[in-house]
Amino acid sequence: MALFRTINLADQPPLIEGAGVFLRAPQAGDYAEWVALREASRAFLTPWEPTWPADDLTRSAFRRRLRRYAEDQRNDQAYAYFLFRSGDQVLVGGLTLANLRRGVAQAGSLGYWVGAPYARRGYMTAAVSALIPYAFTTLRLHRMEAACIPTNAASISLLEKTGFQREGYAREYLCINGQWQDHLLFARLRDSPRRR
Ligand SMILES: CC(C)(COP(=O)(O)OP(=O)(O)OC[C@H]1O[C@@H](n2cnc3c(N)ncnc32)[C@H](O)[C@@H]1OP(=O)(O)O)[C@@H](O)C(=O)NCCC(=O)NCCS
Repeated sequence: MALFRTINLADQPPLIEGAGVFLRAPQAGDYAEWVALREASRAFLTPWEPTWPADDLTRSAFRRRLRRYAEDQRNDQAYAYFLFRSGDQVLVGGLTLANLRRGVAQAGSLGYWVGAPYARRGYMTAAVSALIPYAFTTLRLHRMEAACIPTNAASISLLEKTGFQREGYAREYLCINGQWQDHLLFARLRDSPRRR
């Protein structure tokens, strides 16, 4: 029965293209660029992310990260992408569609980040807008969820611009920057109108 079928990895394109950006699976050769961007963006990102492990930026932790991404993808549990600017193929950030629930849910949770030098230039709006049709067609999701801290104006604005609707408020929902923090819950359904 189609509703309960998982996806065939062969269906996946090597790149997901958006307006001025493209998404692709992280590769070992991305390490130097990724570590430089994450290091340069540490102060910008850490208030909004789970605490970075002490060895997070090391090459061996990056290798483990890639192994986990590959295994999660093989098991249809999560899909991780790095985000590149099309013009010069510079790495600008990343997105993950995680915690996929198949069966009668067909849902997944969206997470994202951009490097500080690339913030507020529309890159993540373009990336999320490109991922949405992919998630609802190739990955066959019915529902994309996202959650953010109520003071995260950038994330709220991004989700509203890309057609997510606010559905609720979850107390101490995720441990972010070392503290259990309340979150706003957003979702977008397969049949929601596209705003972009
Ligand atoms: C959230 C984040 C991914 C947005 O990426 P981005 O590429 O800067 O977003 P865009 O440029 O596409 O902008 C999306 C909207 O957010 C708004 N925005 C971006 N940064 C903002 C800020 N600091 N304050 C208020 N609004 C902001 C933009 O103006 C735009 O809305 P508009 O077109 O109506 O003006 C980025 O700010 C980020 O990585 N933040 C730190 C990590 C994080 O918050 N992760 C998500 C945790 S839930």
